[in-house]
Amino acid sequence: MKIVEAKDYNEMSRKAADYIIKKIQNSPKLNLGLATGGTPVGIYQNLIKDHQLNGTSYTHIATFNLDEYVGLSPESPNSYRFYMNHKLFNHIDINIGKTHVPHGNAHHLHEECLRYERLIAENGGIDLQILGIGANGHIGFNEPGTSFQSITNIVDLTPSTREANARYFPSLSEVPTQAITMGISTIMKSKEIILLVSGENKAEAFSKFMIQEIDEKFPASILKNHPCVTIIADTAAMKKVKVHC
Ligand code: GLP
Repeated sequence: MKIVEAKDYNEMSRKAADYIIKKIQNSPKLNLGLATGGTPVGIYQNLIKDHQLNGTSYTHIATFNLDEYVGLSPESPNSYRFYMNHKLFNHIDINIGKTHVPHGNAHHLHEECLRYERLIAENGGIDLQILGIGANGHIGFNEPGTSFQSITNIVDLTPSTREANARYFPSLSEVPTQAITMGISTIMKSKEIILLVSGENKAEAFSKFMIQEIDEKFPASILKNHPCVTIIADTAAMKKVKVHC
């Protein structure tokens, strides 16, 4: 596990974007695993800027998002499909048919989970997965207590996660109660993972991550078992830990 410290959110975003861009330039057919939430927004802005200035091409890139809210259509401004289209896909030369987000409004949600899991496998798996971390240690929407063996599945969101994400919705009551998420074993099959941690509100979670033994009570702890994880954390997020980078 490699830890890279960034002085602030902008530097974290730039470092992560530079890393992704290099990967894409070396492997134009990369399967990229993407995350949503506030943390990766700066990365996406940097990817767009680089695409416009340097022409990095995404024509042959496939993307797989970690998760999607149950019940939201792709057109809903709060869906992760909408987020991805507006914050990244509409601004680069990616083939939209190669961008994958679970269908949160599928009629048969269980089938949809199996389809998504199969889709990733049939495409050869994820080469590089971008991850954020929830204040309670969740990755994707895998809440504390999720089995490390889990595959893409439907999950109930904890009240704390719904509250944390309510800032993106008109009101808390409109935050869905369930989501489809890649499972922990799906995430762990990625060849490489970048975990992003930013801001003082993640300092507690990050310090827990650093001292925590691998335990299903803290989903992110499983990343310590992955052979190729880079953590890019900013100074505010590292406030409560002492590490040598
Ligand atoms: C959300 C997402 C996660 C994300 C996390 C942190 O619930 N499902 O993939 O990493 O919470 O979000 P943020 O970056 O906004 O702090």
